[in-house]
Amino acid sequence: MFIGTKLWNNNHRPERVRPAFEASLKRLQLEYADLYAAHTPFAFKPGDEQDPRDENGKVIYDEAITLLDTWKAMESLVETGRCKAIGLSDVSLAQLQEIFSAARVKPAVVQVESHPYLPQWELLDFCKQHGIVMQAFAPLGHAIEPKLLEDPVITNIAKRVNQTPAQVLLAWALQRGTALLTTSKTPSRIRENFEVATLPETAMKEISEGIKTEYRFNPVTQTGIPGFIPRGR
Ligand SMILES: NC(=O)c1ccc[n+]([C@@H]2O[C@H](COP(=O)([O-])OP(=O)(O)OC[C@H]3O[C@@H](n4cnc5c(N)ncnc54)[C@H](OP(=O)(O)O)[C@@H]3O)[C@@H](O)[C@H]2O)c1
Repeated sequence: MFIGTKLWNNNHRPERVRPAFEASLKRLQLEYADLYAAHTPFAFKPGDEQDPRDENGKVIYDEAITLLDTWKAMESLVETGRCKAIGLSDVSLAQLQEIFSAARVKPAVVQVESHPYLPQWELLDFCKQHGIVMQAFAPLGHAIEPKLLEDPVITNIAKRVNQTPAQVLLAWALQRGTALLTTSKTPSRIRENFEVATLPETAMKEISEGIKTEYRFNPVTQTGIPGFIPRGR
């Protein structure tokens, strides 16, 4: 088992990082974590409120610190031995580069939304160049509109290679060199998602070059507030 957990936005102040991490370990009943990642690059108002809002319902951000300040506090967790690696989530390439160039402990993992509608090729290239694992979340497009699982490029390849559209999308993610985070509450789909077969290079190319739709399903990178926006099924 590889266990990772995350630092939430209200705990970005350096002095809050260690207590937040220790509280996570306690809840998980663990002596150490394999990975601790900053959930988003956004610092919210420090305090125990996870979703601090002003009287107009707007998120209250903490302008007094930077992601690098938070990162430095995360680095010291690795030095305690209670955390084997640290990572980032929902960052842009520019944000990753800034942290990477200043970091003593380099990010081990970067978790971002990624699928054929949001391939993030430049980010992936940077990660590969520097030995960072890019972990793709929503590799199936979260199964909401616009439905990646029903994209004709994907469904045609699925028929040709005798796999399901989900298996084609997962194979594409793995073969291009990302780790992935998919989820299902359906036992048959969970099994299906483990039975992924290698795609021919022609199919990889068709997906990478033939799909022109560009779509981000999760607006967390703009606001720090997580959640998919369903657009009807
Ligand atoms: N870093 C972040 O900000 C962030 C944000 C969002 C998510 N995440 C992480 O990423 C994980 C995965 O994201 P996601 O849920 O969007 O993943 P996803 O794999 O793109 O979508 C999951 C959806 O696809 C359906 N599905 C799964 N396997 C399928 C199959 N074989 N055929 C057809 N449909 C299938 C599931 O339906 P059923 O469950 O009904 O089977 C579920 O509705 C989350 O659990 C979370 O841990 C991270």
